[in-house]
Amino acid sequence: MRRIIWIILAVLCLPVSSLSGQVESLKDVPFPGNNLQTIAKVELGKKLFFDRRLSGDGTMSCATCHDPNLGYSDGLEISLNYPTTRNWRNSPTLINVGFQKFLFHDGRASSLEEQALFPMMSAFEMNQNLDFMEEEIRAVPEYVAEFTDVFGEGDVNREHIAMAIAAFERSLVSRDAPLDRYLNGDKNAFSPEALQGYKIFTGKGKCTECHYGSNLADDRFHVLNVQENPEHLKDPRIAATRRFVAKVYHYEEYRTLAEDPGRYLITKDQKDWKAFRTPTLREIAMTAPYMHNGIYATLDEVIEFFNGGGGKGNTVLKPLHLTPAEKDRLRIFLEEGLTGVPIAFTYPKIP
Ligand code: HEC
Ligand code: HEC
Repeated sequence: MRRIIWIILAVLCLPVSSLSGQVESLKDVPFPGNNLQTIAKVELGKKLFFDRRLSGDGTMSCATCHDPNLGYSDGLEISLNYPTTRNWRNSPTLINVGFQKFLFHDGRASSLEEQALFPMMSAFEMNQNLDFMEEEIRAVPEYVAEFTDVFGEGDVNREHIAMAIAAFERSLVSRDAPLDRYLNGDKNAFSPEALQGYKIFTGKGKCTECHYGSNLADDRFHVLNVQENPEHLKDPRIAATRRFVAKVYHYEEYRTLAEDPGRYLITKDQKDWKAFRTPTLREIAMTAPYMHNGIYATLDEVIEFFNGGGGKGNTVLKPLHLTPAEKDRLRIFLEEGLTGVPIAFTYPKIP
């Protein structure tokens, strides 16, 4: 009897394990049981996301670097930051971020609730004191009323602020892209060129080795050896940010660190040296420039990178030998096939 149960269980598990490497249509965003998604909470989070009170000098909001008009990224190679400082990485899109298992290019955060307070506190991002920020928000009666409405008690605190922002972020979902319609049975969802590109994406291009599932990301880290930008290596502001983060993460040689160590900073495992997370490709047409350091301005450059077998010395990618026409079709698939219906958006009125 027990054997039969095991066999049934094994059969039930089969489809799950065989999904690895397959592209899937969109699913519902998972949310944690202790932060249920409500319309009022999303609206509150949206206000906070656009509120410049969250930065120390009152000039920046989350939307400064995650702009709805730029697919919730900022169009820059490396984000400009709190005055006189600079980030060290490219600002990722927040569309579909609710599906990401690991956050940041090196995966150093894993929940949106946990992540939201980092940029506010961070010396090189919003440089805000969280105790002071709580008081600033508490001093606004409209906010107090909304927090009471959403969280059942009037207390405005950093945890509730983070929960509301996280709920807003989970509402940013790329829906109804041609890829989803195609996978749901609409054989005419793609233009003929995009359909050819889709076949290259899942076939000769081997993109689905890493970009798979409904978010086209494998929740893993890979050493592709994307080159450093020589201009960035010369910028003392970027060097300061890099050394600062490395110091916070207890990297002993932080003072001489001259490149981005990637996932290594978190795991201290040599195999993770310069490993970066596979990003989603949803809405990719809107979120140039690309890669953790924004080194590629166009999708053509990214495709050329993969076609050439990735960065020098990497052992993960092999040259693909795509013809010019195939590269073109692949780009058309990325641009057309992964762009969903525009995410409805109106600027909130900040109280
Ligand atoms: C000055 C620019 C800037 C500001 C302001 C900013 N961010 Fe970011 N954000 C970034 C950059 C750059 C990264 C990537 C950092 C890294 O990987 O080390 C990032 C990463 C993230 C991520 C992880 C996304 C992913 O795919 O892993 C989330 C979520 C996020 N930011 C939310 C916010 C929220 C919420 C705020 C406001 C409280 C905010 N950001 C303010 C630049 C900024
Ligand atoms: C071995 C895993 C792997 C394979 C195979 C792979 N990718 Fe990626 N892809 C990644 C990782 C990891 C990154 C992020 C690299 C970085 O930031 O340095 C990335 C980044 C990208 C980006 C930039 C996304 C952004 O928001 O910056 C695009 C576009 C992309 N890949 C498309 C493709 C295409 C098209 C193919 C097939 C020709 C492909 N990838 C094959 C792992 C992979």
